[in-house]
Amino acid sequence: MVNDKWFNDKFIIGLSPMDGYTDEPFRLVQAEISKPDVIFTEFVSAEGLSRGGVGLYDVLLYSPLERPIIGQIFGKDPESFYKSAIVLCHLGFDGVDINMGCPAKTVTQNGSGAALIAKPELASEIIKAARSGIDDWFNKKVTIDDLKLNQKTHAVIARNLKYSSHIPNIGAQPPTFSVKTRVGITESVVDAWIPHLLSHDLDFISLHGRTLKQGYSGLAAWQEIKKAATMAHQTSTKLFGNGDVTSPAQAIQYGQEFGADGVLIGRAALGNPWIFSADKEGSYEDKFHAMVRHAYHFNRIFPHRLFDSLRKHFLIYASGHPQAKQLRSQLVSLSSLDQLYAIEQDFLNC
Ligand SMILES: Cc1cc2nc3c(=O)[nH]c(=O)nc-3n(C[C@H](O)[C@H](O)[C@H](O)COP(=O)(O)O)c2cc1C
Repeated sequence: MVNDKWFNDKFIIGLSPMDGYTDEPFRLVQAEISKPDVIFTEFVSAEGLSRGGVGLYDVLLYSPLERPIIGQIFGKDPESFYKSAIVLCHLGFDGVDINMGCPAKTVTQNGSGAALIAKPELASEIIKAARSGIDDWFNKKVTIDDLKLNQKTHAVIARNLKYSSHIPNIGAQPPTFSVKTRVGITESVVDAWIPHLLSHDLDFISLHGRTLKQGYSGLAAWQEIKKAATMAHQTSTKLFGNGDVTSPAQAIQYGQEFGADGVLIGRAALGNPWIFSADKEGSYEDKFHAMVRHAYHFNRIFPHRLFDSLRKHFLIYASGHPQAKQLRSQLVSLSSLDQLYAIEQDFLNC
C-alpha cells in the first residue's frame, strides 16, 4: 500500500504549513521557483468547513503545479472532521492532514491543535472520523451533496475545482492520511504519544521537536524526533521531522543522523523561495523578482484583497538588505504592483 503513495520510499523535503503565510500566492511562487516534494495548505477549521464557511475555501485553493498538495484541518469535533475529509477528497487533495500541533491560544483554549496531545482518546476519535470520511467518499457511500451545504458553498466549491483543474472522482487516488504534532505539552511525551498515533496506521506523522509550552522558542529536540522515528520504523508509518531546518543539505543530514523519513521546512522558506532546489541565498535581484511574482499572483488570485497582507512578505524579502530601513518604509506603503515596480532600482542598487 505504502509504495503507491506520492512519497514512495523517497526521502521527502516538504514545505511546512504556516497560517497567515502559506496561502495560494505564496505556495504558487514556491512551486514555480523551487518545488518541495510536498506542500501543505495553511490549517483550516474543520468545524468551519463542515458548516460551509465560504471564506475558508480561499485557503484551499491550489494549482496543479503544487501537487502533491495536502489539506490540513484543525478542530475538536469528530463529526466535523468526517465532513471536512469529504470536502478535501472532493476537492482532489493528495493528502488529508490533521493538526495536533498548533500552540496558538485561540486554538488550544478551544481544545484543538496541540491541546489534543493531552486528550489521546479524543484524538483517536478525530482520526477515526476523518478516516471514515475518506473511506466513505472513496467507496462512494457518501458524496459532497450529502453534507447539505448551502448554495453559496457549492458555488465556491465549484470555483475551487475550476481553479485547481480538478474533476472529482476522475482518476482519483485515495489521499494520504497523516497527523502533524509536537513532542508534548510541557515536556516530551513521545514515548506514549507516538505509539498512540502509530496505532492508527497513519501514512505519516510530521513531528515538530518542540512542546506546546515552548511555542517557537528554544531549539527543536531532534533527539525526541529520533526516538519517534525509531518507533515508527517498527510500523509502516513514516516519520517526518520538523524544526529549525534551514536548507535541503541540513534536512538530508538530519534525516541521516536522526532517522527521519523526511523533513518539513517552515520559516526558512519565507522570503526564500529557491530554498528547495539549492543551498543558496537569493541575490537582491532574485528577491525582487520573487516579490513581484508573489504580488502578481496575489493580485490575480485575490483581486478583491488589499495589498496589506503582502507587506509582511515584502519585509521578509527585504530583510538583510543593506538599505533595509529605507526599503521597509517604502514597502509598507505599497498598494499596487506598479508601485512595486517603481522601487525596483532602490531594491537593486545597494
Ligand atoms: C507563522 C506560523 C504559522 C504556522 N501555522 C501552522 C499551521 O497552520 N499548521 C501547522 O501544522 N503548523 C503551523 N506552523 C508550524 C510550522 O509548520 C512548523 O512546524 C514550525 O514553524 C517549525 O518548523 P520550522 O522551524 O522549519 O519553521 C506555523 C508556524 C509559524 C511560524
